[in-house]
Amino acid sequence: MQTIDNFYLNATHMLLEPGPVVLVTTAYQGKYNIMALSFLTMLEQNQPFLLALVMGPWDYSYSALQKTGECVISIPTVDMASTVVEIGNCSGSDIDKFKKFNLTPLPAKEIKAPLISECLANIECQVTDTSLVKKYGLFILQTVNVWTDPDRKERRMLHHKGDGTFVVDGETINLKDKMVKWPEYL
Ligand SMILES: Cc1cc2nc3c(=O)[nH]c(=O)nc-3n(C[C@H](O)[C@H](O)[C@H](O)COP(=O)(O)O)c2cc1C
Repeated sequence: MQTIDNFYLNATHMLLEPGPVVLVTTAYQGKYNIMALSFLTMLEQNQPFLLALVMGPWDYSYSALQKTGECVISIPTVDMASTVVEIGNCSGSDIDKFKKFNLTPLPAKEIKAPLISECLANIECQVTDTSLVKKYGLFILQTVNVWTDPDRKERRMLHHKGDGTFVVDGETINLKDKMVKWPEYL
């Protein structure tokens, strides 16, 4: 082990960036949009299911989420990797990303933001707490509906390492017999 001299630059962020990378859709002023996002965490796994994400105020999606209080978290897979990066490198302020990237919006059940048909799963969310938005860009969301595509062949998700490189889901190991403290989750 050795210390990393320039850790203040990006080492912490690159070690801990959790993934999976997601796509966040919004519907604002009659326009659908999509952004790529990897600063995402679970907050509560019992009802109400809560998660938190961090968006920069420079993102068009930030204003859309702040104004509408709704978004869909769509989960792309490895076959969509280049599209995900390109979506995260342009702004919905001047383009229609559904059109540009040939993605299909589908109506959600509980909210106005659209699902992305090509994704593995879509999670409909409503903002429940904005108290840390101004300080950290941190939105707390409640899951209100979830969609998955059980027929989809490619199911490997992408995990951003923070610098444009990605780890792709690999082998699953089963250690359920050691999960004695949490039988309700097996
Ligand atoms: C892999 C990847 C992960 C990203 N993660 C985040 C993130 O967690 N939060 C954020 O604000 N922007 C993140 N971005 C940048 C936004 O996706 C980018 O600023 C995008 O252009 C915003 O789109 P919009 O202006 O249409 O909302 C990420 C980009 C990429 C490529």
